Amino acid sequence: MSINHPNFGNMADDRVIIFDTTLRDGEQSPGFSMNLTEKLRMAEALAELGVDVIEAGFPIASPGDFESVYEIARTIKGPVICGLSRSAPGDILRAAEAIRPAERRRIHTFISTSPLHMKYKLRMEPEQVLQAVVDSVSLARQHTDDVEWSAEDGSRTDLDFLCRCVEAAIKAGATTINIPDTVGYALPEDMHRIFKSVRDRVPGAERAIFSTHNHNDLGLAVANTLAAVAAGARQIECTINGIGERAGNAALEEVVMAVRTRPDAVPCKPGIVTERIMATSKLLATITGFDVQPNKAIVGRNAFAHESGIHQDGVLKNAATYEIMTPESVGLNKSSLVMGKHSGRAAFRDKLKTLGYGDLGDNKINDAFSRFKVLADRKKVVYDEDLVALVDDEIVRDHDRIKFVSLDVHAGSNRPAKAALELEIDGVVVAAEAAGDGPVDATFIAIQKCFPHEAKLLLFSVGAVTEGTDAQAKTTVRLEEGGKMVDGQGADTDTIVAATRAYVHALNKLLVKRARTEPEAMSA
Ligand code: KIV
Ligand code: ZN
Repeated sequence: MSINHPNFGNMADDRVIIFDTTLRDGEQSPGFSMNLTEKLRMAEALAELGVDVIEAGFPIASPGDFESVYEIARTIKGPVICGLSRSAPGDILRAAEAIRPAERRRIHTFISTSPLHMKYKLRMEPEQVLQAVVDSVSLARQHTDDVEWSAEDGSRTDLDFLCRCVEAAIKAGATTINIPDTVGYALPEDMHRIFKSVRDRVPGAERAIFSTHNHNDLGLAVANTLAAVAAGARQIECTINGIGERAGNAALEEVVMAVRTRPDAVPCKPGIVTERIMATSKLLATITGFDVQPNKAIVGRNAFAHESGIHQDGVLKNAATYEIMTPESVGLNKSSLVMGKHSGRAAFRDKLKTLGYGDLGDNKINDAFSRFKVLADRKKVVYDEDLVALVDDEIVRDHDRIKFVSLDVHAGSNRPAKAALELEIDGVVVAAEAAGDGPVDATFIAIQKCFPHEAKLLLFSVGAVTEGTDAQAKTTVRLEEGGKMVDGQGADTDTIVAATRAYVHALNKLLVKRARTEPEAMSA
């Protein structure tokens, strides 16, 4: 039996759709919000990775969400672009408007179906919910042929009622049926039973693609995903690095590599370019400021590191002794020397292409090239990771109103730290000097003097881009203003300069947030 889907045509039995929700479920978790430029960069990377569907956002949630779904729909080619909506007509119409420019588009509409959610969250009777399923899917179908319907809290829904809702959704025109484990409560055997029962019992089930969406509250999101696939699910909803509400969603890289590594046990083939996994994971970490933990499967720093002598010896004799997949298959190549300070612009441009940056345009290449020259002068060895940090830094700062110009710091154990800082604010260079409790404190006070603001500093963290004492520092600064939280990132061989860049980046993000909600606040 094969399904004829409006966007995917006749699907072979072993085809599985990878539905990425990094920009929606992932982005809505605290601290992970991204601005428009960052979302577009991430969406481009997801398209290069080969995901089938990008859930670009929740258009009714805010004007900013609407704008980013619209821009992704307008500019990203390849994947189906999907907008999320609740069941209310206003939500659905807003989602339809946001995805309209996309070549291939989908509306994803959802409503809660569990007794707990219907009673306390929706305050609706089951029959009203059933009617809302029919109305919402029918309305969505008037705007696109590709409609996904989700039973929120599906894994805690009464099975008979779930079957009635799924049947109604398919009859109303839903082409994908998603049964989420919204609160991460299910065990793999629950997932298998639910998917098998619903697919066996619902008349017309063969006309829809069944989708699985799992949260990781018990650390079972990937296991539950694989259990649903074993029971016939042919769409997997997941996020890069497993980001998402609370403990996150099933991690794309883990699910995809599990399926790739065990074709004997998992009966499907995702169309992901696995060699792009590492670069996509790193890009997300750079944009959000959250690195994955070192022992994270597939993309953690230690995922392919062999420490014990016995393991190292085995791997040298035959890598398969302790490696179930090759580092190259996920895009992890040995750090390679990039170029020296005498390398030219053309070689630099070529190198960026091999690192997955398409055409950045002459201005960005020129700015990044100037920074590369400064870095190559200071640092003995420039690695791929250094270039990625530098270029990501350049890309995210594209539309910044506040720009870092220079910093001079005096610090030590015998005298108070002093910082002399220059920032360019709306094209005008502003300078300030400050003393403080250490060089970071002095610098942050100087930033406050150059650009007075009320934002509170919530977090300041420092990591290293590569190894060695001359490695670039990678810093994150989290600011909060009026309930709005933003993270800024910076990279530089000088830790204090990296901290300043991160602070300035966070301020720029705050200005964008302010402008979206209250345009008159742009004057700071
Ligand atoms: O977890 C969930 O139930 C969701 C739905 C909106 C699909 O994210
Ligand atoms: Zn979710």
